[in-house]
Amino acid sequence: MIVLKTSHELSMMKAACQLSAQALQIAGEAVKPGVSTWEIDKIAHDYIVKHGGRPNFLGYAGYPATACISVNHQVIHGIPSKQVILKEGDIVSIDLGAELNGYQGDNAATFAVGEISPEAQRLMDVTEQALYKGIEAAISGGRIGDISAAVQQHAEGAGFSVVRQFVGHGIGQKLHEEPEVPNFGKAGRGVRLIPGMTLAIEPMINMGTPDVRTLKDGWTVETADKQLSAHFEHTIAITSNGPVILTRP
Ligand code: MF3
Ligand code: CO
Repeated sequence: MIVLKTSHELSMMKAACQLSAQALQIAGEAVKPGVSTWEIDKIAHDYIVKHGGRPNFLGYAGYPATACISVNHQVIHGIPSKQVILKEGDIVSIDLGAELNGYQGDNAATFAVGEISPEAQRLMDVTEQALYKGIEAAISGGRIGDISAAVQQHAEGAGFSVVRQFVGHGIGQKLHEEPEVPNFGKAGRGVRLIPGMTLAIEPMINMGTPDVRTLKDGWTVETADKQLSAHFEHTIAITSNGPVILTRP
């Protein structure tokens, strides 16, 4: 079942999403060589709690942290750790969200640690651009496949590959709602987009193979070929005036 949000609910979503966006921004500012992913997680956790929110990944399906922090060839769901120290040249994907007054926000971005290679920078840029292409295609009257195809075309057109085993999702009072929002597919296919839908669009783009595998910790997803991966995510609303980015900082 797809839950459509009233304008009141959209304003509640906006508040949760703004807190999520600010927490992501603060976490991103903490990214530096020598910092552990545990420290970044703690900064995000304390920021969300201090502003009256609840870290909505923490405890979700048993997830043990506020943020998912995935370094280099890790795609998503990296568990923050005191043992994982960022170093110059790494790229680090931070995914986190906040619940505020019963509504959920969810967003992600990949950050550079100091100076990175031009290829890593291009992967990050193309992934962020692919997210915005997807958002631009999220037009009332269109279909989910319009979003999927826009993301896929941009990423593959740049010579990168799209992760298929994980997808974006509806979001609202629950972190994961229907419908699924794949980052691959055909325009004109899938669920019709209508005002009041709120979606988390989240391309995960790999430099090499699209294949991924999950580590024995049960969470961390990495590329099968150990090449780099990037991840950007916004929570958006479909409106009669076009897509609105609820997590725009
Ligand atoms: N941001 C992730 C998503 O979009 C959620 C991570 S799963 C969790 O689905 F368990 F860490 F919450
Ligand atoms: Co998400």
